[in-house]
Amino acid sequence: MTQNTSGYQDSPLVARLYDQVIPYRDRPDVNFFVRAALKTGGPVLELGCGTGRVLIPTARAGLKITGLDLSEFMLEACREKLTREPRQVQDLVTLVQGDMRDFSLDPSFSLVTTPFRPFQHLLTVQDQLSCLDCIRRHLVPGGILILDIFNPSLQGITADNLGEEVGAEPEFITPEGIKVQRFNKSIARDHFSQVLDVELIYYLVHPDGRKERQVHAFQMRYLFRYEAEHLLARCGYDVIELYSDYDKSPFGSLYPGELIFLAKKTAG
Ligand SMILES: C[S@@+](CC[C@H](N)C(=O)[O-])C[C@H]1O[C@@H](n2cnc3c(N)ncnc32)[C@H](O)[C@@H]1O
Repeated sequence: MTQNTSGYQDSPLVARLYDQVIPYRDRPDVNFFVRAALKTGGPVLELGCGTGRVLIPTARAGLKITGLDLSEFMLEACREKLTREPRQVQDLVTLVQGDMRDFSLDPSFSLVTTPFRPFQHLLTVQDQLSCLDCIRRHLVPGGILILDIFNPSLQGITADNLGEEVGAEPEFITPEGIKVQRFNKSIARDHFSQVLDVELIYYLVHPDGRKERQVHAFQMRYLFRYEAEHLLARCGYDVIELYSDYDKSPFGSLYPGELIFLAKKTAG
């Protein structure tokens, strides 16, 4: 595993298992992002596109989409999946290895998305500002940014369970016959910098019975609603919608829910 300078630790194991992890496989956000892409007509830029969980269905819907990710392992998994798609889907996709804090592409996107919280791997205000400035430069006039982050649960970020392995997920079996179960652990919470140190722990049982424990450690910064709104305003965006869920439940209708901002690039 390699630690990059954002809060995300790159890992070949995570890239290999990502699409099979039940909560990721069943995550109810794909249609939301595909519909948003259809509404703008594209082209779309997905930052932190990972294995293409959202990117590939977007291309299948006929949208031109560029996926940018820091992780070569995740991009490789995405490329491999794309080889199984029809030519016309493949032709709509461009993949770029890069950092969402500082990238330079053709600045012609009508929609920029950040599905499943990549923005929260940016651990400082400076990194967040660099990313939002960079996105703005890549949006056409009136273009839309969808910022997808979690709404911090006060109970969750103060729970008395540091160092405990919790949250047993449903087991799954990979095509190679490896039995996998995942847990999570909060290692540390810095409430001054708002950075959470988290571990995802994978227990593997190989077909020959050999057992393995693999840890994916990373950091995430939590942001509350008004902090995110101020950031967006400071970087030249107008918030036009704020949802708590991918079914467009309005903010405040469930707790903690998500913070899903639709923000329009301001003129000028
Ligand atoms: C939880 S995954 C989300 C992947 C995908 N968007 C999805 O919805 O399945 C977070 C992704 O953000 C990427 N990432 C983290 N920091 C990044 C950065 N600074 N620039 C670009 N990608 C980054 C990681 O490599 C990882 O693929």
